[in-house]
Amino acid sequence: MVVSELFQATKRLQTDLTWLTEAKFFEKTDSTQKRIAQFLPKTGEGAVLVLAEEQTKGVGRENRPWSSPVGGIWFTLALPMTGKDLGRMVSFSVLSAYLIVNSLKEIYNLKAEVKWPNDVMHEGKKLAGTLCTTTKKFKKDWFLIGVGINVNNALPGDLAATATTLKEIRGQAQGRTRLIESVLDAFWNAWSEYDRTGFGPFHASVEAVLSGKGKAIEIKAGETVYFGEVVGIDPEGALVIKSPNGTQSIRAGEIVGQPA
Ligand code: BTN
Repeated sequence: MVVSELFQATKRLQTDLTWLTEAKFFEKTDSTQKRIAQFLPKTGEGAVLVLAEEQTKGVGRENRPWSSPVGGIWFTLALPMTGKDLGRMVSFSVLSAYLIVNSLKEIYNLKAEVKWPNDVMHEGKKLAGTLCTTTKKFKKDWFLIGVGINVNNALPGDLAATATTLKEIRGQAQGRTRLIESVLDAFWNAWSEYDRTGFGPFHASVEAVLSGKGKAIEIKAGETVYFGEVVGIDPEGALVIKSPNGTQSIRAGEIVGQPA
């Protein structure tokens, strides 16, 4: 019998990551972001992980479908909001993408970039994305970090031009356990310190790997559209752009297409 790599990984995470209170693995589920709700404890404490080999209804930002066939990394980590200021947590979304970039650098020496607010890009193609949401269970608030990393999975035809996988980049199938563990640990460390540190200590490092600097972009934020040149990121994690109207910090929104 072939035991799935991710089944083994989940067992290993439970021993290696002492801060993880619960880790569940599914060969197939609709979406880890939804599935996790049933495992959130009454205490509102701890850290819960749901990992899947395949998602049948993966969701991305703006409720877009997220292609998640066998072979990728698809998980949601739930962290307690106790004592946390949600306003401050907005920047955690940018940070989550940065922490993935950092793990990719450490493990593979890969030069990936953060496309604000939460995409991980490699040579202009999307390699990973994060989805940060909140939920309530037993009157306790949780922060959910959904992570999708294209590793050995096939990409649907319509994504081939704009997305990539680790397998494609490195020329052969890749193990996933080390990357999952590294990203999870980075999330936990940042989360534990965030009340004290905020985004500040990460600011320069995130800006250093920000994609599109100096390039013209269009950002959609609800009904509002901004045009400008990417300058950087401010100390709160907002995107700074320069337009004919001056310099602006954009706190929420989405860059349309690739920077020109
Ligand atoms: C994006 O770039 O739009 C964010 C993609 C986030 C996808 C992950 S895969 C694991 C978790 N479960 C989901 O349904 N979505 C997130």
